[in-house]
Amino acid sequence: MGDRTRRTRHARGLFAGISSNYDTPAKLFGLFQYRRWHRELVSRLAPHTPSLVLDMCTGTGAVAEELLRQTDSRIVAADLTRSMLKAASERPGLRSPRVSFIETDAQSPGLADGSFDAVVFTYLLRYVEDVPTVLSQLGRLLRPGGVMASLEFAIPNGAWHPLWLLHTRVVLPLGLRAVSRGWGEVGGFLGPSISEFYRRWPPDRLEEAWREAGFGDVSTSRLSLGGAAITTGTRL
Ligand SMILES: C[S@@+](CC[C@H](N)C(=O)[O-])C[C@H]1O[C@@H](n2cnc3c(N)ncnc32)[C@H](O)[C@@H]1O
Repeated sequence: MGDRTRRTRHARGLFAGISSNYDTPAKLFGLFQYRRWHRELVSRLAPHTPSLVLDMCTGTGAVAEELLRQTDSRIVAADLTRSMLKAASERPGLRSPRVSFIETDAQSPGLADGSFDAVVFTYLLRYVEDVPTVLSQLGRLLRPGGVMASLEFAIPNGAWHPLWLLHTRVVLPLGLRAVSRGWGEVGGFLGPSISEFYRRWPPDRLEEAWREAGFGDVSTSRLSLGGAAITTGTRL
């Protein structure tokens, strides 16, 4: 089985296991930064007043809900995992004619070139094998001048690093195991997955990949003592 298929199947299985009970554990074990990061992420797009936004990896729809709040855009909420998308479609805060839902894979989204004014994606790149191709695929969906913004976990430096290790290697695995079997699997996977991704794609290299995928004005800002990073760029 190819790496792409293996990673995709893993992501689908992982998220299908937590789709019925996603938001509360995500908030709690994200140390209550989860919604704050979404607000920050959407605030990078809102000033561009996009008419149509793609929320790739919408999951249960929290970012789409924030887009509804901060913009007047129409929103296409997309995800690989059917049960996550179903939870998004039933989210009370997303009952709006401005929102539609599609089941798709970011690695081959099958949407028309240049059809969006903005693309946002969250926690995606650790679940794909070929990062440059995914950045190109998402960039292709944007009109020239359109903006893309992503949110991903990052690794704090200095004195915060041992505390981050304690949180991701001890607190998360033990705490999430107490929530459910599916969340237990996430708890064991998350910390090593963040570290592995950071090793393969340190921030400078990732920004370079955005540029090579056809983006300008690429920049990254760190949030919450370095525990998360938002990268933005403009389609050239
Ligand atoms: C951690 S959740 C994020 C959900 C939501 N955006 C949030 O911030 O709470 C990541 C989502 O990415 C989706 N996903 C993973 N790989 C994907 C891919 N290749 N294409 C589309 N969605 C994918 C998963 O199904 C999951 O719903």
